[in-house]
Amino acid sequence: MTEPDLAVADPRPGHDTTFEVTVASTGDVLQVPPGRSVLEVLEDAGLAPLSSCREGTCGTCETGVLDGVVDHRDSLLTEQERAAQDTMFVCVSRAAGPRLHLDL
Ligand code: FES
Repeated sequence: MTEPDLAVADPRPGHDTTFEVTVASTGDVLQVPPGRSVLEVLEDAGLAPLSSCREGTCGTCETGVLDGVVDHRDSLLTEQERAAQDTMFVCVSRAAGPRLHLDL
């Protein structure tokens, strides 16, 4: 299956969809539903990185991305960093496709 183009992501509030997160260190595959953040789902699984602001402004929860397309919703990354698709802030950012593979 190919990753959808970024243009198909629907950034409107209330239009989030469920996506899958794979945790590299454990192999855990988690579902992130609308209304829940990646950070919240990781916390429930006992796998969460450190966090602080939970608004995409402090940078504490930065997590490496090994595969997948991120819908960046933070206030920290530059356009160039967003385009690199190799890191994300899991408190606010989501997937722009069906899954993300996180370097956790
Ligand atoms: S907890 Fe501050 S950017 Fe995610």
